[in-house]
Amino acid sequence: MTVSTPTLPPAPHAAASGNEHLDLEEQLSREEIESLQLERLQWTVRHAYENVPLYTRKFDEAGVHPDDIRTLADIAKIPFTTKEDLRETYPFGMFAVPMAEVARIHASSGTTGRPTVVGYTRGDLDRWASLIARSLRASGVRPGMKVHNAYGYGLFTGGLGAHAGIEALGATVIPMSGGQTARQVQLIMDFEPDVILCTPSYLLTIADAMVEQGIDPRSTSLKIAVLGAEPWTNEMRRELEERLDIDALDIYGLSEVMGPGVGNECVETKDGPHIWEDHFLPEIIDGETGQVLPDGEKGELVFTSLTKEAFPVLRYRTRDLSRLLPGTARPGMRRIEKITGRNDDMIILRGVNLFPTQIEEIVLGIENLTPHFVLELTKQGRMDALTVRIERHPDLALEVCEAAGAVLRKRIKVLIGTSVEVRVEEPGALPRSEGKYKRLYDLRRSAT
Ligand code: DLL
Repeated sequence: MTVSTPTLPPAPHAAASGNEHLDLEEQLSREEIESLQLERLQWTVRHAYENVPLYTRKFDEAGVHPDDIRTLADIAKIPFTTKEDLRETYPFGMFAVPMAEVARIHASSGTTGRPTVVGYTRGDLDRWASLIARSLRASGVRPGMKVHNAYGYGLFTGGLGAHAGIEALGATVIPMSGGQTARQVQLIMDFEPDVILCTPSYLLTIADAMVEQGIDPRSTSLKIAVLGAEPWTNEMRRELEERLDIDALDIYGLSEVMGPGVGNECVETKDGPHIWEDHFLPEIIDGETGQVLPDGEKGELVFTSLTKEAFPVLRYRTRDLSRLLPGTARPGMRRIEKITGRNDDMIILRGVNLFPTQIEEIVLGIENLTPHFVLELTKQGRMDALTVRIERHPDLALEVCEAAGAVLRKRIKVLIGTSVEVRVEEPGALPRSEGKYKRLYDLRRSAT
């Protein structure tokens, strides 16, 4: 092979110094992180520019050259990368190394069109595993624990990504994958794992299945859940922690940037994922103008990878909405506020913007309601209408649940400022999650 991969700038040794559960990078000061970021950013920009035709073209069109990146703020000169760019170069057009150096491929199906394809070198896979291991340690997972991995295995990055990280940590992996809920419960009872990894909505499904089998979800061996791959609220965290008697931590990531483990919450603070800034540079932008916003302001998350060889991404627009906050448990690295939703799942209802997570927050604050709900958008005449379909509590009378439904309608009106219909349905009426849960059904087109 003739194309050679530029060598990454050396990383500080990931040895323990003082705190045995932290990588050295987690203990760097803000200034040290920023200087590491600049060095790695300059490497990444050059690597992408020299090896990915789409980046060469975009840089040339914008009149920017890798030599122009002299400070971290210079990143603003670089054009954004979008999902459309990935689709345009489908399947392998954005790989920056020869295929012979690509050790693994993953793909995310997305809702429409071609899947997004990403690749990893052997080195990328090792760094990914070490970041998952770091994420799990931040969640309180320790070598020797048993980890039940119920993220889906296959092209989705969740299953295999987490798997390698569990092994790298020195924990025992139970590679369960998603689905087969009754079997999940059986293996949790028989193998007695300390930790479960899955989506938050799937953990709810598993807890319900335990109850159906006559098992008290608080009585199992599980102590920690590392949950992600979909938006979820602090109210859902409380619900799951209470129901299963566990600590529930938030793991964030996306295929285009790496997969799970771009950031993770720390168990001592549980205040939103710390972004592993030695490997990823986050920005928040105004989704409409593309302007970079100062830390603390809410907008769209954008990521630049700093150490990826096979699939470097420059200023990738995630469509996820959050804000950047100062680090707490890891002072050198910034946090993101728990993600409230994505640009593309915002509902505009008669001029009011709302996200499914806002409804989740309200539902979980009302007694006698279950967390099982979906949202349906329909057309009534020329107006859009939103219906919250929610399951009644199996142990409570219908009237009690309908009264709670009326409270929900009122609170949505007061807190969000829009009228919705609330329909209380029988237990089991709604689909159960087996991974990423589909909360919103847009039936407007089929209704006309
Ligand atoms: O969902 C990677 C992942 C797997 C993350 C397992 C965490 C755990 P994708 O399928 O590419 O990758 O989907 C990425 O999922 O842009 C967010 O919209 C959403 N997402 C992921 N983690 C979180 C989270 C994986 N912790 C998309 N909170 C992202 C909210 C999340 N949304």
